Amino acid sequence: MLRSHTCGELRPEHLGESVTLCGWIDRVRDHKGVIFLDLRDRWGRTQVVIGPESPAANLAAARLVRSEWVVLVRGTVGHRPEGTTNPKLATGGIEVICQELEVLNEAETPVFQPGATDLPGEEVRLEHRWLDLRRPAMQHNLFLRHRIVKIMRDHFDELGFIDVETPMLGRSTPEGARDYLVPSRLDHGSFFALPQSPQLYKQLLMMAGFDRYVQVAKCFRDEDLRADRQPEFTQLDVEMSFVTADDVMGVIEGLVKRTAKEVLGLEVTLPLPRLGWDECMERFGHDAPDLRYGLEIVDLGDAAAKSEFRVFKGALESGGRVRGIRVPGGATQFSRKELDDLTAVAVDGGAKGLVWLKAEATGDWSGPVAKNLGPDVAVAIRTQLGCEPGDLALVVADSFDVTCKALHMLRKRLGSRLGLYDPAAMHFSWVVDFPMFAHDAESGGWGAMHHPFTAPRAIDREFLGSDPARCRAQAYDLVINGTEAGGGTIRIHDGATQEQVFGLLGISPDSARERFGFLLDALRSGAPPHGGIALGIDRWVMLFGRLDSIRDVIAFPKTQKASDLMTGAPSPVDAKQLVELGVRTVVPPPKA
Ligand code: AMO
Ligand code: AMP
Repeated sequence: MLRSHTCGELRPEHLGESVTLCGWIDRVRDHKGVIFLDLRDRWGRTQVVIGPESPAANLAAARLVRSEWVVLVRGTVGHRPEGTTNPKLATGGIEVICQELEVLNEAETPVFQPGATDLPGEEVRLEHRWLDLRRPAMQHNLFLRHRIVKIMRDHFDELGFIDVETPMLGRSTPEGARDYLVPSRLDHGSFFALPQSPQLYKQLLMMAGFDRYVQVAKCFRDEDLRADRQPEFTQLDVEMSFVTADDVMGVIEGLVKRTAKEVLGLEVTLPLPRLGWDECMERFGHDAPDLRYGLEIVDLGDAAAKSEFRVFKGALESGGRVRGIRVPGGATQFSRKELDDLTAVAVDGGAKGLVWLKAEATGDWSGPVAKNLGPDVAVAIRTQLGCEPGDLALVVADSFDVTCKALHMLRKRLGSRLGLYDPAAMHFSWVVDFPMFAHDAESGGWGAMHHPFTAPRAIDREFLGSDPARCRAQAYDLVINGTEAGGGTIRIHDGATQEQVFGLLGISPDSARERFGFLLDALRSGAPPHGGIALGIDRWVMLFGRLDSIRDVIAFPKTQKASDLMTGAPSPVDAKQLVELGVRTVVPPPKA
């Protein structure tokens, strides 16, 4: 190596040693003829001093260097003078007295300084990602990712899982998002689909007898993006044979415990709490609730049924619900403007409005619709919510789904606005017993809540034929701090049930054979009972790193518009390539 030590390595015990360091100039300071260079590499930062006693050529070179130049420094480890040690820096007890400064590469003035505290907007950071990745915070995130993935690999290796790679070029698997397609050059008009997950391959590996499979797998989904969604993301994909849901959850719980301990020094008590999907929707309005705080949803149907208030009556009469949350102390804490903002949140969630009521010291409610409720109803709502003077009640009347969505969004807003949780806290839980099917508004038929390969609970098997809405799945989602960090199911392992489920999902026998014939054949050739799960690695690292965006734990992420600002992908291709692929594009005319 060109260097003898890294920039994070030298300590007072190295005093007097001759060393060679290589790295980037983080900062240059000229103090009355003494030049200080902060030299930075992946391992840390070291102060280099070039004083008047240094050879003239060195001093001249040191006056030329600028931030982000790459240099090699030969020198001796020296004491920092009294009062100049830097306890914040691991190498802060020493400095390197430079005997020779060699410039390995100059750098143009960077668009931003990786060492600076004021950062440009994310677009600039993404466009110049190599500079952004020089920042210690980003390097820390990627090291954390490495450590977390290493823990995952170790955990599964120790439990006898085998890592098997599955294809990127395959057939569309229905995970519920749009596919990324790759045109075939040899078979014009045919396309590969990039995997939304290795779902069917891992099931086939079970049918092939591998018993325990794991893979760090790239997945591709063309869906609307958010802070915790990328078009291309990574799963820790797991499948096991001869297991129940408890077995799969047990293996993941072991990983949760180990990761929390090794990464955060946290002791997680097992087993993790489990919530049934129905209860979850009743109490929190969402299947990945943030359980770091309360603000539980309360059904106010009994109280509302006594009311003549148009909004409540209308909702109940059309089969909807009236539900609310109590916000302790909210009556005094929120301004009118904030209450309007909360109304906007509810409307964003699909509600037609938000009833807010302040519990006054007199025992009455105040608020725009307080007088419409009628005295009995006012008392009943107060009792049902358990409100005390100074509390705020937020009520939404609508279909069950809308009340869920609006109140969930309100919970989230209130949880952070009121600081109801310790940002360092980690809450792990399972949500189980999901419905097998959800109504698909577009087709008017059933859609798979997880995916079409999910097995119903044994006790619900009969409802597949009679009442699919009642059928609950052997499904489990791992929720961390209100984020779905993983999800899986026990699979259907017999061909007949699989065909029945395809049928319920509106996939005709011919279409099922055409798309999934290999699966149906494999299910009829000795398929073991099996099940598995996939963890979103990007989300795990974000959560264990206490970060807000998965883009901060992905080296080269895409924007919300699914583009890579650094390489400019996606981009047009040569006409020749399109001809070879038999693809003609319909490009909208440029906007005038
Ligand atoms: P699912 O679709 O629930 O299950 O995905 C598993 C986990 O992957 C993560 N995830 C994502 N992370 C970032 N960006 C995305 N666009 C994105 N989509 C999903 C989430 C999620 O919990 N084959 C099944 C698993 C199984 O049944 O075994 C599957 O993919 O953390
Ligand atoms: P409106 O008569 O539509 O102006 O509504 C009267 C009040 O009830 C307003 O404060 C609305 O925000 C609220 N509101 C209207 N519809 C709903 C609803 N479905 N659920 C809760 N509040 C509502």
